Amino acid sequence: MGGLSLLSNLVFLLTLLVISEAGTTSRKRDADVSCILTASGNDDAPQFLAAAAGCSTVTIPTGTTLDIQTRLNMTGMSNLNINLQGTIRFNPDIPYWTGNAFFIPFQNSTTFWLLGGENIVLNGGGTVDGAGQAWYDALPNNSTLLRPIIMTLNQCTNATVENIQMINSPNWFNLVNECNDVTFNDITLNATSTSENFIANTDGWDIYRSDSVTIKNSVINNGDDCVSFKPNSTNVLVSNISCNGSHGISVGSLGQFAGVFDIVQNVTAVNIKMTNSGNGPRIKAWAGEGVGSGLVQNITFQNFTVSNVDLAITIDQCYETSTAACAEFPSNVIIQDVFYDNISGAGAESEVASLDCSPDGRCSNISVNNLDLTGPGGDTSFECQNVVLTGNSASLFGTCTAT
Ligand SMILES: *[C@@H]1O[C@H](CO)[C@@H](O)[C@H](O)[C@H]1NC(C)=O
Ligand SMILES: *[C@@H]1O[C@H](CO)[C@@H](O)[C@H](O)[C@H]1NC(C)=O
Ligand SMILES: *[C@@H]1O[C@H](CO)[C@@H](O)[C@H](O)[C@H]1NC(C)=O
Ligand SMILES: *[C@@H]1O[C@H](CO)[C@@H](O)[C@H](O)[C@H]1NC(C)=O
Ligand SMILES: *[C@@H]1O[C@H](CO)[C@@H](O)[C@H](O)[C@H]1NC(C)=O
Ligand SMILES: *[C@@H]1O[C@H](CO)[C@@H](O)[C@H](O)[C@H]1NC(C)=O
Ligand SMILES: *[C@@H]1O[C@H](CO)[C@@H](O)[C@H](O)[C@H]1NC(C)=O
Ligand SMILES: *[C@@H]1O[C@H](CO)[C@@H](O)[C@H](O)[C@H]1NC(C)=O
Ligand SMILES: *[C@@H]1O[C@H](CO)[C@@H](O)[C@H](O)[C@H]1NC(C)=O
Ligand SMILES: *[C@@H]1O[C@H](CO)[C@@H](O)[C@H](O)[C@H]1NC(C)=O
Ligand SMILES: *[C@@H]1O[C@H](CO)[C@@H](O)[C@H](O)[C@H]1NC(C)=O
Ligand SMILES: *[C@@H]1O[C@H](CO)[C@@H](O)[C@H](O)[C@H]1NC(C)=O
Repeated sequence: MGGLSLLSNLVFLLTLLVISEAGTTSRKRDADVSCILTASGNDDAPQFLAAAAGCSTVTIPTGTTLDIQTRLNMTGMSNLNINLQGTIRFNPDIPYWTGNAFFIPFQNSTTFWLLGGENIVLNGGGTVDGAGQAWYDALPNNSTLLRPIIMTLNQCTNATVENIQMINSPNWFNLVNECNDVTFNDITLNATSTSENFIANTDGWDIYRSDSVTIKNSVINNGDDCVSFKPNSTNVLVSNISCNGSHGISVGSLGQFAGVFDIVQNVTAVNIKMTNSGNGPRIKAWAGEGVGSGLVQNITFQNFTVSNVDLAITIDQCYETSTAACAEFPSNVIIQDVFYDNISGAGAESEVASLDCSPDGRCSNISVNNLDLTGPGGDTSFECQNVVLTGNSASLFGTCTAT
């Protein structure tokens, strides 16, 4: 498939026309321009970028694999539909990406692909392939290896990602960074390793500084959080998703960085299946000297079924903090109005729920209703600290320990 095909030449011409007609490199288009890409046999990033800048619909047909060898800056797009029927594959050239992937200041992350702007659709039934195996195998030899997040929806408004499969992310699959009105629907995420090396940090979705995000009707097989609400995630709905092998549906971790105030507010996670997981619904906040602060408020976890989950329900206000440091410097993250309702299934260990708050009323209005959780062989325990629980399952916890 060497050389530019007639179609890619056409795309290139159209791109030039659109850009020169506008007399500017503005990515806004007056009319619909539909483009179809074919594999170039070389790095397909340049033609993909040119098409995204010049065409309103970019189709990657079934049977076509775009080989992406260099980073994709698709920020500031407007009215763009990427119709991915084939595959976009990020070539695992580790030295290239460790030097050139886009830097994201939050947690010193990097990413292959920034996609942002307004009115963006990515759909079509195709696959985004992170080619993670080379990264999974390189990590044990280099613990500081910077592995890219596959896709970052970055500074966007009104973006929809629908009917897409993403596989083998080197790190998180998706970061939603500084966006409003984002929907993910009908997505399959799957990280699997063919060697003994683990699929580390393969979070499904992380949401950061974003408002009005929906993730629904999706299936995830991964090795870290299924969905994670990072600082300043507001008005988020997660609905009808099935998570296998994950670390949970997680608020946080929050309050990590000195001088930074983290908010997670108005989150609902409903109709969720968690299998072979470390946690189910989970809230984690840092404590210790010199950490940050925050507010977790109005969080609903409803209709979870769990199976082989180590700890079905978790609040941990001493996340990554020693017991002694946590006692001396309790968490500065306030947790209010958290509603657990209809969480059922089988835990992998006898302790099925652990709601551990920092003292002095840092957790309030936490309700537990219709919990139906059992440990192995019916040996089941519920544990809590420094919180007054309400709801028809509060008695399962007995009196919470005060510290
Ligand atoms: C991405 O492209 C935009 C628009 O051309 C530019 O302003 C921005 O600096 C680029 N971002 C990075 C990280 O290179
Ligand atoms: C990010 O990298 C800087 C510079 O290497 C380092 O000081 C900082 O601790 C890192 N932050 C995190 C969260 O790892
Ligand atoms: C959101 O984007 C979609 C797809 O481009 C478009 O059809 C719709 O009108 C946009 N909605 C708003 C409110 O702009
Ligand atoms: C990692 O190191 C081990 C032991 O030195 C070596 O066998 C293996 O080939 C290395 N893996 C990679 C991907 O470099
Ligand atoms: C480990 O990865 C880092 C960052 O990705 C890189 O700078 C460093 O050179 C790598 N170390 C080795 C020994 O390859
Ligand atoms: C839930 O999501 C699955 C795909 O994961 C889909 O097949 C099913 O139709 C969805 N259910 C509802 C009620 O939308
Ligand atoms: C993930 O991929 C593996 C290997 O191809 C497959 O066995 C498994 O069923 C897939 N899981 C999901 C959820 O698609
Ligand atoms: C679910 O996770 C288990 C344990 O991690 C794994 O063995 C299994 O292949 C996964 N199933 C699917 C359908 O991906
Ligand atoms: C979160 O939003 C609040 C209120 O707007 C702001 O003060 C804070 O700096 C934001 N935190 C982060 C991590 O962006
Ligand atoms: C949370 O929802 C309430 C009620 O709809 C709304 O008033 C409030 O502004 C929302 N909070 C945020 C941070 O959007
Ligand atoms: C709580 O958040 C939900 C969305 O998750 C929202 O519908 C509701 O209005 C919020 N309630 C309050 C009192 O803010
Ligand atoms: C949660 O499950 C209950 C009982 O099965 C059902 O009545 C309710 O509609 C579900 N909630 C949502 C938001 O789907």
